[in-house]
Amino acid sequence: MKILVTGAAGYIGGTFAFEALKKGYKVFGLDNFSNSTDFVPSILSRKFKKNWVFTELDLVHHKAETIEFFNQAKPDVVIHFAGLKAVGESEIQPIWYWENNLISSINLLKCMKATGVKKLVFSSSATVYGDAKQQPITETQPTKSLSSYGSTKIAIEQLIYDACKSKNMNAVCLRYFNPVGAHEENIIFESPLGEPNNLMPRIVRVGLGIDKKIKIFGHDYSTSDKTAERDYIHISDLVDGHFAGVQYLAKMSGCHSVNLGTGKPTSVLELINAFQQHNNIEIPFEFCNRRLGDVETCYANPTLAESLLGWRAKYGLDLMCKSAWGAVKKNGL
Ligand code: NAD
Ligand code: UD1
Repeated sequence: MKILVTGAAGYIGGTFAFEALKKGYKVFGLDNFSNSTDFVPSILSRKFKKNWVFTELDLVHHKAETIEFFNQAKPDVVIHFAGLKAVGESEIQPIWYWENNLISSINLLKCMKATGVKKLVFSSSATVYGDAKQQPITETQPTKSLSSYGSTKIAIEQLIYDACKSKNMNAVCLRYFNPVGAHEENIIFESPLGEPNNLMPRIVRVGLGIDKKIKIFGHDYSTSDKTAERDYIHISDLVDGHFAGVQYLAKMSGCHSVNLGTGKPTSVLELINAFQQHNNIEIPFEFCNRRLGDVETCYANPTLAESLLGWRAKYGLDLMCKSAWGAVKKNGL
């Protein structure tokens, strides 16, 4: 099978590409390096000379070149990871987010149509549920945007859904909860350009001594330890969910949105404690005010993923914490 991966130099796209190559697939990756470097593509070039083809392309601006790449690749399926993903940044630069995320997706769909590629897996997010009242969250709950980033994910899902109505395309939109940790070989890990906002990379920075303390945003939630709860999912489980999505595409039609989460809520304090325990390292913290736009609890009901895709998360907080730390210790930030 031939797979085309957009955003292939990034955290999740790079990890997926690595695993796909290990499984023996031919992988065509593209990225514009707006939030990555050629670190991952060059590792993959060294390890998988024959089956890895990478090109630097911007899905917004390089339409002709993208069609050319598709014609060269003739992929059976596209996995669309490319996108801007920082919620705070999206509030400051909404038009940039809309242009990058939406136009790149429109161009990708046009390109798929022009070259006869009919199967798509899209990286969506639990952010599409906004501040869902019912927990755990099922896919039938309404979508609601709390940020420009969230608006782009809802809009792209709708775009893909409409494109699939023409019967020329089938798609799975995977709604990720909170991906953390590193791939088993500790080579590819979350290393965003600039300062990270997410909890795990922030904890890692404290472990490395870059920051003195982690700020815990909110100690007044109605959870067991008063800190906010999320559904952290190991990157390898998340990546496996994409292979399950690809298999599902072979037998379904239309467009389906599916949660990828563990179904287990973990509080901020629990994650920090797990990190300390499993890595034998102290992570000083302080309680601060809630972060604007944060929700109290957000975790998946993963039963649709199990029934449709035959997928279920396997890994726990121990591996999430050990691998996040192990990769950074091995490679640096
Ligand atoms: P990432 O930033 O590490 O990877 C995204 C990649 O896309 C980057 O390498 C970036 O350079 C590239 N890119 C962005 N715009 C592009 C364009 N116009 N043309 C070509 N390449 C472009 O992010 P990630 O964590 O790997 O996330 C991958 C996808 O998963 C994103 O769509 C993100 O919104 C979604 N997602 C991520 C999380 C998370 O917590 N990491 C959660 C939910 C959803
Ligand atoms: C955020 C985004 C979400 C996006 C996801 C992946 C918001 C509101 N949501 O999810 O849309 O899909 O990232 O990019 O931004 N925390 C601290 N201290 C920190 C960092 C985080 O206490 O230094 C807390 C947060 O308040 C939250 C939890 O840790 O309660 C998880 O935060 P984070 O990793 O940023 O993920 P989300 O907010 O769930």
